[in-house]
Amino acid sequence: MSFPATRLRRFRQTPILRRLVRETRLSADDLALPLFVCPGEGVARAVGSMPGVFQQSVDRVVETAREAFAEGIRAILLFGLPEHKDEVGSAAWSADGIVQRAVRALAREVPGLVKIVDVCFCEYTSHGHCGVLAAKPGEETTVDNDATLVNLARQSVSLAEAGADVIAPSDMMDGRVGAIRTALDAAGFSATPILSYAVKFASGFYGPFREAAESAPSFGDRRSYQMDPANGREAMREAALDVEEGADMLMVKPALPYLDILAGLRRRFDLPLAAYHVSGEYAMLKAAAERGWIDYDRVMMESLVAIRRAGADLIFTYCARDAARLLAEGWVE
Ligand code: PBG
Repeated sequence: MSFPATRLRRFRQTPILRRLVRETRLSADDLALPLFVCPGEGVARAVGSMPGVFQQSVDRVVETAREAFAEGIRAILLFGLPEHKDEVGSAAWSADGIVQRAVRALAREVPGLVKIVDVCFCEYTSHGHCGVLAAKPGEETTVDNDATLVNLARQSVSLAEAGADVIAPSDMMDGRVGAIRTALDAAGFSATPILSYAVKFASGFYGPFREAAESAPSFGDRRSYQMDPANGREAMREAALDVEEGADMLMVKPALPYLDILAGLRRRFDLPLAAYHVSGEYAMLKAAAERGWIDYDRVMMESLVAIRRAGADLIFTYCARDAARLLAEGWVE
């Protein structure tokens, strides 16, 4: 009898051997934590569909960021819930805006923390769309691309002035990376990087986020500016355009349902890549774990490693602190 007994299994026999040949590793350095800033003081309102996630006032965001930093999380992503919304979302570029205030407080209180800011208008407009509305007679109301570019540039410069370290536009207007780059350079922020949500799909996985950020569109949906989930080649064109316009890092969003897109970008581009493990992905993990149907720690770590394996250098995830804690405890699969 000459069966080829063990082959691939030789290096799978013990934890030590498995670690020796492990191709992808996860570290707290690869994770960024999204946070939601709201007005007030001492406020921490739980987001129902995202257990463990809160809308927090500036003082509480500072506390959370400080704790996360101590646990090894080096970057956060800020979303703002403004005091007042209007048709164009003007609170987004106010020097005293909610995210601007949070950025200044974090710069003072948590030195070294990388403050990435989401640039978009859906949290700031009364209608919940990601820019200025336009409608030609007889046409469907949609977002006016070029009028929105002007405001995105304003918002970006205002956030850079407050001390934001990375500008992350998530609006999906055409030409926004170029418009923001030009405005930042003209305002003296040529050293501030742009992380473009280059490939952002019109996804149902953003559902819980819209509760957290109070940013659901009051009519229609985002399909006229975010990408069709069916399109992979178009994703490469989106990325190529943003690279041409001067993006410093590219993001794919959501993460798990779009790992093929991420892997495609990894093959074609040499920029750093990010993936956004979004609210719906988080909510599914939490809900199934709550019912005892899956092991949260295990499935979470497997998900994050898979996103890294597909090509992400940086992962935006609501699980960042949970993952950092497990890694610090010496988590081994
Ligand atoms: C803003 C924005 C959204 C998310 C990040 N930035 C929502 C949307 O496009 O509707 C979603 C993040 C998440 O689901 O965790 N445009």
